[in-house]
Amino acid sequence: MQSLKQSLRKSVLTLRDGLPLDVKSRLDSAILARILELPDYRESRTLLGYMNFGSEFSCDSWADQVLKDGKRLALPRVNRHTSTLDLYFVEDLENQLEPGLWGIREPVVERCERLKAINEVEFALLPGIAFTRKGARLGYGGGFYDKLLSGSMRPVLAVAAYGLQLVEEIPQEETDVGVEWIITESETISCRQENKF
Ligand SMILES: Nc1ncnc2c1ncn2[C@@H]1O[C@H](COP(=O)(O)OP(=O)(O)O)[C@@H](O)[C@H]1O
Ligand SMILES: [Mg+2]
Repeated sequence: MQSLKQSLRKSVLTLRDGLPLDVKSRLDSAILARILELPDYRESRTLLGYMNFGSEFSCDSWADQVLKDGKRLALPRVNRHTSTLDLYFVEDLENQLEPGLWGIREPVVERCERLKAINEVEFALLPGIAFTRKGARLGYGGGFYDKLLSGSMRPVLAVAAYGLQLVEEIPQEETDVGVEWIITESETISCRQENKF
């Protein structure tokens, strides 16, 4: 199972890393516009995002817009003791973040309010490497979001992905959490009806 997942990670990452920056930036704009149109986004008051790294969708402009729209934004911080994600509210992306694990910007504990529970979040934009149209998600291999979202109460889950990140099949474990929405540069895919793998 893990070796199948690992080879899929490698092949999709190679494709994604190969996107020229000007192309990527056009795709990012198209994806951003689609997320902002989504009723689930518009109606949510408290959202979870992430700070992108590598060739991921640039989440910054989305995070900026969340704050401009007067919504509350939570971001994750890796807890190195428990290998899980802690969530913090952030209002100022310039001054409340610092580079953490793998250089990914994370909330500074002393400057941010911690969320009491994931069920405060209504809408979450998750990172990931590959996705199926049915909503199966392949992350980087830490299972961080599977653990974060393992409870019965979970927000609406969405991912921003380039079309090249869509694959036919992803091996799934009992603990893998699927998403409700996949937003690409050309499609807004609802996975709600088919969330069984
Ligand atoms: N809720 C959970 N509790 C304990 N371990 C988990 C949980 N969710 C995932 N894991 C473990 O985390 C590891 C990585 O998960 P995997 O799905 O391969 O990574 P990713 O979701 O990042 O692609 C696996 O060994 C998986 O069994
Ligand atoms: Mg998983």
